[in-house]
Amino acid sequence: MGTVLIGVQWGDEGKGKMTDFLADQVDVVVRYQGGANAGHTVVIDGHEYRLNLLPSGILTGKLSIIGNGVVLDPEVLLEELRGLADQGHDPTRLRVSDGAHLIMPQHKILDAAEEEFRGENRLGTTGRGIGPAYRDKVARAGIRVADMMNPRSFARKVRDGVERANILLQRVYGREPLDPDETIDTYSHYAEELLPYVCNGPAMINDLLDDGQRVLFEGAQGTMLDVDHGSYPFVTSSNPISGGACVGAGVAPSRINRVIGVAKAYMTRVGDGPFPTELTGELGGDLRVRGNEYGTATGRPRRCGWLDAVILRHSARLNGLSGMCLTKLDVLSGLDQIKIAVAYRYGNRRLENFPRDSTVMDEVDVEYTSVSGWSEDISEIRSLNELPDAVGQYVQAVVDLTGVPVHYLSLGPSREQTIQCDFAPG
Ligand code: IMP
Repeated sequence: MGTVLIGVQWGDEGKGKMTDFLADQVDVVVRYQGGANAGHTVVIDGHEYRLNLLPSGILTGKLSIIGNGVVLDPEVLLEELRGLADQGHDPTRLRVSDGAHLIMPQHKILDAAEEEFRGENRLGTTGRGIGPAYRDKVARAGIRVADMMNPRSFARKVRDGVERANILLQRVYGREPLDPDETIDTYSHYAEELLPYVCNGPAMINDLLDDGQRVLFEGAQGTMLDVDHGSYPFVTSSNPISGGACVGAGVAPSRINRVIGVAKAYMTRVGDGPFPTELTGELGGDLRVRGNEYGTATGRPRRCGWLDAVILRHSARLNGLSGMCLTKLDVLSGLDQIKIAVAYRYGNRRLENFPRDSTVMDEVDVEYTSVSGWSEDISEIRSLNELPDAVGQYVQAVVDLTGVPVHYLSLGPSREQTIQCDFAPG
């Protein structure tokens, strides 16, 4: 049984919490794309954990696999493993696919140099080397975990990579060159430490599925950051959509039985790029404070805005959502009216589909519908019939505008603050 759990917005929807909530329904958790740019926050027994690279399943003792589609920064991984071991978690439940590509020091330096070079056209990346690492992968110049296990050829590959990057660093960006021997030395130590975790990802994951194990494919980032289907070029360099799970884990589409989309009850975005429903005034600032909207990976303030049904419909189609989880509903308490974008207007055209051109996306006017808000604090409510009617009406409006059922409501960061429900399109 394969379930994909993905973000349907610009990331930070609360996927880490939902992975934890679904722990009882899952035996194995697989991350299939992205790298240390992700930030999954999970609260267990009042303790907050922040993970950048490890699959959230590691916190509940599930077998957790980093798939071939991830770009892996060994320094971050080993640090996170040590941190978890110090807090009493079992790091031996981790496996790393030997097909995952490595983030090398030059990737992080190039990420920063390229952002600086773009100036006011910067993308607002997390600076974790993601774009340069995926670029090397596609250019067939990347180094994989499997390469690490062969010391002689590994040293040659590292040297080639550093020397090539040095040309760019020095001649294009006017930066200091890197010392290949230093990288070879550092990464050889990482290789020794990583060795016990290395596996053949696709073989292992397919065997587990053959054995009837329940596998959760945990997406990082979100649909609008997908390199093919997001708000290009303001995207990440991988495919967070559900189809990305097949490529990034090495399983066939027929292995996926269910796709759960996680949507925040409002929208946020960290980094640059268009955001039609952004609230730049006081209300946006209020949402940021109440929702504690600061990036897990970088600490940057997140931009906040109204929920956007144009984007949710785009996500529903691309991901084949079986259902959604609506998170952070508690943050909306106290608003008289809550708006939801239903369409965009560009000149005299009404757009119901998300436009490809980011300059169009930047300039659209938004057509909203409005529903009544609620004043009560709902964060301690544990059953559906105790929720104010207005909450149900808001959720039903989201379902009707997107055509996707909502199966979970999240009213706070802990596992207990989750209500199962069955809102179906009317
Ligand atoms: P990169 O993935 O670091 O290259 O950054 C590209 C874009 O994706 C930037 O706008 C980042 O802020 C955004 N981004 C990357 N990872 C995340 C995430 O986990 N949550 C939210 N935004 C992200």
